[in-house]
Amino acid sequence: MTESVQRLEYDVVVIGAGGAGIRAAIEASAQGARTALVCKSLFGKAHTVMAEGGIAAALRNVWQEDSWQVHFRDTMRGGKLLNNWRMAQLHAQESPDRVLELEEWGALFDRTKDGLILQRDFGGHRYARLAHVGDRTGLEMIRTLQQHAVHKGIDVHMECTIQRLLTADGAVTGCAGYWRQTGELVAFGAKAVVLATGGVGKAWKITSNSWEYTGDGIAMALDAGADLIDMEMTQFHPTGMVWPASVRGILVTEGVRGDGGTLKNSEGRRFMFDYIPDFFRADTADTEREADAWYEDKVNNRRTPDLLPRDEVARAINAEVKAGRGSPHGGVFLDIASRRSADYIRRRLPSMYHQFKELADVDITATAMEVGPTLHYIMGGVRVEPDTAATTVPGLFAAGEVAAGMHGANRLGGNSLSDLLVFGRRAGLGAAAYASRRPAPALDDAQLQAAARDILAPFARDESGEDPYQLHERLQSTMQANVGIVRTAGELEQALRDIERLRARAATVRVKGGRTYNPGWNLALDLGAMLTCAEAVTRSALRRTESRGGHTRADHPKADKEWGKKNIVTQRRDGVLVLAEEPIPQPPPELQALLGDDVPTGAAATATGAKEAVRS
Ligand code: FUM
Repeated sequence: MTESVQRLEYDVVVIGAGGAGIRAAIEASAQGARTALVCKSLFGKAHTVMAEGGIAAALRNVWQEDSWQVHFRDTMRGGKLLNNWRMAQLHAQESPDRVLELEEWGALFDRTKDGLILQRDFGGHRYARLAHVGDRTGLEMIRTLQQHAVHKGIDVHMECTIQRLLTADGAVTGCAGYWRQTGELVAFGAKAVVLATGGVGKAWKITSNSWEYTGDGIAMALDAGADLIDMEMTQFHPTGMVWPASVRGILVTEGVRGDGGTLKNSEGRRFMFDYIPDFFRADTADTEREADAWYEDKVNNRRTPDLLPRDEVARAINAEVKAGRGSPHGGVFLDIASRRSADYIRRRLPSMYHQFKELADVDITATAMEVGPTLHYIMGGVRVEPDTAATTVPGLFAAGEVAAGMHGANRLGGNSLSDLLVFGRRAGLGAAAYASRRPAPALDDAQLQAAARDILAPFARDESGEDPYQLHERLQSTMQANVGIVRTAGELEQALRDIERLRARAATVRVKGGRTYNPGWNLALDLGAMLTCAEAVTRSALRRTESRGGHTRADHPKADKEWGKKNIVTQRRDGVLVLAEEPIPQPPPELQALLGDDVPTGAAATATGAKEAVRS
């Protein structure tokens, strides 16, 4: 039977309407391309809003000493030098302009006394450089971009899940999916497609991500022939809520620590002083007094260890909990009440104040919060060419979390909002330029019908078919238990066996009811992408026999010099995932000189406390 598929035609189709997607669409449209923005959720509902604390950019409003060079250095060091240097350079150079442009478009940033955009401290950034709007920066960014896109007349297609990229002769010709509201099928013909679909947090149990983040773009790119790199590099944000259980994983912004909050264990001790890795020691205070002096006077540049990069802090919290020094609900304490006035806290961190008051009945102006790591971000993803955001598939571009390279082994907080703006714009430019040289593609009926059959298959299976919710729950459990902050070969192999079994079961998944807003059906389809990404993460994690950034192996606790020079590339060949190692492009001498002589050794190997974390 032939399924009816609605057809729409554009020059550029952008999939995903978070910061990167909207910025890409604005740029493609500004270049004269007929542009569509397609999003799985409602317009404006994006993980971008979970970057609460700010946008990193060397604006030099608080510290004159800051510069793009220092931002570049911080980003590369934070990423343990696994970053694509060119992306880190473009990002550091262009993010100030992108922030100012956002302000021109109506974003209302907090201000210094002199009326400049105020900048706050965040982990791994040498200087306070996060432009912010209280603790709602991502929200303000989305609001501003959304308004701008609407005023520019860009076509927005909401609640439309794209399931497949369409290709001809190896180049992209469009994409196909379904409207969530009606369940009807739709295909977009496009000369160029930009993926801006975000990450895959929903493959883990404890995550800051919401239901949309199921790795769709990563899986579709892989299936269309694109390369993925460094999928093992996952980021556990150190501070998510740990209770009540129903809200476990919800983000507690790093801005709490940026504004003076400190981490304490059940003994009331500021344990982060035990976990300063050699690599960061020169930048980090060795004693509580030094750290306090930094907060009070900001006279020297030595940082508090509470503001070490996220991978270091997440591992330290994990170690304290495992050593029996955790909080009652399995986290640690985050205390801002004893260092800042109630007025200051409510003004600077209004969302955190309300979040804890309403969800946990905790007044953070008087009591410490309980927090623990939550899967927040993936540094790995689709390989892109830095200047144009082009993937290895002609006509396919990627920007934001779905793309890899920019953040190396660990992303610094605040660098994602700037990444979205810098590379969203570049992807829009790249896609529009590519589209201007191409004729309108013809969609292939056979490909459309094959996509339609796969999308509708869960309705056609018999009673013995599997329940998508149970499979999702199993996947989240195995990823949480076996592909977490600290990994071993045995656990990763177990995860691979589980994923393989789940994949076989997912092939029989069955859903009941109609196509209209059917969450079981929607999840059944999302499972495929989650399983693909979970497998790529796990295989890459098994392959990288060292500890670096977001990837810590208890059985290989040291960073390895040779591994530090390699990306792990994942491709799909004849249906199976194939991994290879490739040398990382090295920066030119003038940028190399900015990085200093000290080579990152991998925090897990060098911090005294973290050694135990790795073993426990
Ligand atoms: O903690 C935060 O506000 C998150 C920021 C980010 O992920 O960049």
